[in-house]
Amino acid sequence: MLFGNDNDRRMGAPTAVQRLPRKASTRNVFEHSEKLGRAPTASDLREVPVAPPATEAYIQAKKSMLAALFETVDISAVSDMDQTKARREMAKVIHEIITLKKLRLSTAEQSRIATEICDELFGFGPLEPLLARQDIGDIMVNGPKNIFIEVGGVVEKTDVQFRDDEHLLATCKRIVSQVGRHVDSSNPVCDARLLDGSRVNVILPPLALKGPTLTIRKFKKDRLRLRDLVDFGSISPAGAKLLAIIAASQCNVIVSGGTGSGKTTLLNCMTAFFDRRERIITLEDAAELQLQQPHVVSLETRPPNIEGKGGVNMTALMKNCLRMRPERIIVGEVRGPEALDLLQAMNTGHDGSMGTLHANTPRDAVSRIETMITMGTAALPILTVREMIAGSVDIIVQTSRLRDGSRRITHITEVIGMNGDIIITQDLLRHEITGEDKRGNLTGRFASTGIAKPKFYDKAAYFGLGDRLTKALEEAGALEARPENQAAKRA
Ligand SMILES: Nc1ncnc2c1ncn2[C@@H]1O[C@H](COP(=O)(O)OP(=O)(O)OP(=O)(O)O)[C@@H](O)[C@H]1O
Ligand SMILES: [Mg+2]
Repeated sequence: MLFGNDNDRRMGAPTAVQRLPRKASTRNVFEHSEKLGRAPTASDLREVPVAPPATEAYIQAKKSMLAALFETVDISAVSDMDQTKARREMAKVIHEIITLKKLRLSTAEQSRIATEICDELFGFGPLEPLLARQDIGDIMVNGPKNIFIEVGGVVEKTDVQFRDDEHLLATCKRIVSQVGRHVDSSNPVCDARLLDGSRVNVILPPLALKGPTLTIRKFKKDRLRLRDLVDFGSISPAGAKLLAIIAASQCNVIVSGGTGSGKTTLLNCMTAFFDRRERIITLEDAAELQLQQPHVVSLETRPPNIEGKGGVNMTALMKNCLRMRPERIIVGEVRGPEALDLLQAMNTGHDGSMGTLHANTPRDAVSRIETMITMGTAALPILTVREMIAGSVDIIVQTSRLRDGSRRITHITEVIGMNGDIIITQDLLRHEITGEDKRGNLTGRFASTGIAKPKFYDKAAYFGLGDRLTKALEEAGALEARPENQAAKRA
């Protein structure tokens, strides 16, 4: 019920505040609200640019405004309303309060106060302007006063601040509650995917020592494609062709790389070369992949609820996925015992399966898989584990974020088998840093290692891509060494 008491009903058509959920038994401080003029509309609010520093009068006005709102409007009920409608109504109420309280604010300040309050009540508070920027990849909030962003691979501190720990904590709670999750000091960790697809992690004190800590990997609406990576200088044109052939030939691929080095992005790019008839099942902790094929099933793990029940981890999801007749299985990030399930799947008729993992070199990636499997199933002898890896993984692609912030694909490596108890790999393509340009950007080149017929040639030939593979490798060998092909551009 929206109306608080009979007075409201006697007033005829509901005013803005009346349309909002009211706190029970609060006095109607907006009795004359119907006499008020035009209120800022939602679009007025959206147009507010990044704000100049607030004056003392403005800060006081905002405080008094918030007090009036909290006194009269049932904020938690408002948060449950349709966002656009709630924002519109709230903007009107704010305008009413400004007039009633005779607050001395310019038109620009009125719009700004309404935007900021709506952002705090419904959205991400001071983070909203950062979220609206398309050039930002990550937003990292280390306590209320230290907010960093990543732009073009480079991390920088912003002027944006929360008032205090409480303000930040309330924002964290609201963010995760939008997707049905909850954080507090007894559940201080939360991983979630926001409604817009962004990935968010919250960790609170006592685990985070400097106050609530929030990390957002912003969802990019314009997903990157392999040709964008070529334009950015992340891979050479021949290297991109090689990756496309690897994806189309149903090779089993591990994308390895450091944190934020572009693993998920590359995996996503490679999926564009899958046959549209294939049934693909993706498994992720927070769904980020955006496959374009018609026959895709996306699955997401679920953490346990507050009572520790109802959790579905990656291993359980993997087991279920195998009953869903997948043709390709894509695991967003392999980080535990599910590595064994993925390898088994790769080995048992699910060619073309892929996953990412955190490792610094292709050799490290092999060791990481080994460790993940032995930690999950100590009973398996190490030789068996290695044979499994050698028998199932075809290609390891290594991504890296260099010190100038650029992302490069530094290795395309083949797993070619075993020599005794050692897994043998061979690089097909490597990136070498050659120097630094005047702007501090690293220059480099993508060099073919001269392998003319890789082990996966037969797979490529089976899909009619044998000649293209040979050509791509020739091109890589012949062209990549030329200086004009050097990668210096930054994303
Ligand atoms: N080749 C590239 N050039 C420029 N930007 C890129 C490139 N690849 C990825 N990015 C950007 O870098 C950010 C991180 O990318 P991505 O999520 O793919 O990394 P990741 O390695 O999967 O990270 P994590 O380890 O956190 O899962 C994103 O904002 C993405 O748009
Ligand atoms: Mg990732």
